[in-house]
Amino acid sequence: MSAAASPTPMLTQLDALRVIAEAARANAWCPYSHFPVGAALESDDGRIFAGCNVENASYPAGTCAERVALGAAVSAGARRFTRVVITSAALEPTPPCGICRQALVEFAPMLEVIAITPHGLIARWSLADLLPVPFTPASLENA
Ligand code: THU
Repeated sequence: MSAAASPTPMLTQLDALRVIAEAARANAWCPYSHFPVGAALESDDGRIFAGCNVENASYPAGTCAERVALGAAVSAGARRFTRVVITSAALEPTPPCGICRQALVEFAPMLEVIAITPHGLIARWSLADLLPVPFTPASLENA
């Protein structure tokens, strides 16, 4: 067979983000909600940090996938981010919750937020649209 007849498909960075988010989702600890979520956060130097939701018998102690990914990223020295990919098993793309929007805006007000379903349905938002009037470090200076 000629090599040119069936070129090997290239994996894009978005594909990589999705695969990493899905791998993290497989590790979600969500015995209370039964709603596994995976996140893959891309830093501006191209690194990818994964997170899954980690629930707790004391329900408010649970954490979302996005904030787990953010914690991993900041712990590794990353502070500027370009994209986050969120995956869940829901039929509609899962947007980040309000707490995660607030956590992310601290580092990446212009973040691109991409939610992908297992069937490949994609939604894209700007974090600036999802959280139009954010409380930021600058807000603390107005006291
Ligand atoms: N959850 C996330 O991890 N990320 C989201 O974007 C939405 C919600 C988690 C929190 C909780 O463990 C479960 O999904 C149900 O709300």
